[in-house]
Amino acid sequence: MGPGDLAKALAGLPFQSHPNLIVGMERAEDAGVYKLTEDLAIVQTVDFFTPIVDDPYDFGRIAAANSLSDVYAMGGSPLTALNVVCFPQDKMEISILKEVLRGGLDKMHEAGVILVGGHSVEDPELKYGLSVTGTIHPDKVICNNGAKAGDRLILTKPLGTGIISTAIKGGIAGDKATAKIVKSMTTLNRTASELMQEVGVHACTDITGFGLLGHAAEMIECTEVGMVIDSVSVPYFPEVKELAERGMIPGGLHRNRDFRKDMVDIDESVPQYLQDILYDPQTSGGLLIAVPHEKAWILLEKLHGEGVAEAAIIGEVAAEPKGRIRVG
Ligand code: CO
Ligand code: CO
Repeated sequence: MGPGDLAKALAGLPFQSHPNLIVGMERAEDAGVYKLTEDLAIVQTVDFFTPIVDDPYDFGRIAAANSLSDVYAMGGSPLTALNVVCFPQDKMEISILKEVLRGGLDKMHEAGVILVGGHSVEDPELKYGLSVTGTIHPDKVICNNGAKAGDRLILTKPLGTGIISTAIKGGIAGDKATAKIVKSMTTLNRTASELMQEVGVHACTDITGFGLLGHAAEMIECTEVGMVIDSVSVPYFPEVKELAERGMIPGGLHRNRDFRKDMVDIDESVPQYLQDILYDPQTSGGLLIAVPHEKAWILLEKLHGEGVAEAAIIGEVAAEPKGRIRVG
């Protein structure tokens, strides 16, 4: 569903709170967090979607990495998972599903996550993902809305997976670009998550369907701060420029822009393709971290040292413009 659609369905429903609920339905968080004891909370999330690459094994790995990401975005450690499967039994070989599930399992093993069950339904379109449960110390939960003026913003993966996926569907992406996004989308956000916990940060979210600016907007909505993003510093796959200019724009990109354009001021010097990239819906994208400025270079060096090679400082959190994002 598009940004804002779900909010209409949820509005006014009688959600209950609970003293042990640390993060619930009240705002757009990556995952729910519930305190079990004074030093232990569970983190829960679910995510599944249709294939965005042709190879079923790669799709399984991507879907699993994407589902685990919301736990990592909150600084948690995923422990167990359930498979969520929709499968068109009449028109697809069961061997395809096997490859999807094998891909998912391989990612879970890499993440140290145990598969404990799942649920499957017959559906006209293949869909796959995970429901994930993780743990975290109740005092160490990293929410998406804790950014403070002066923080630096670090993005840990390049943008452009939506535009390249659209080009894959159009048959013009090329093997090199496809291989690059598969590698990026199958990379767990675990290392970045562990390092941000080690260094200590104020806020984090992962970049997925709403694009960089959509998720950045969630971080500052209803807060006392705004953001200034330096578009030149934002990492993206180099192939994306030409593909965006050739019109390989996913439908979700336009919806993301329409939904957030009133919160965002983009300088007219920012070229159109780059404006598109900033709203491009990502699958299994990187973390966007608000880190105290004095720790920003420490975190960035650790990220680079541990293989999160394309992490970059892309801007900062500012007292003004409050509740807005300025892109220069
Ligand atoms: Co998320
Ligand atoms: Co999610």
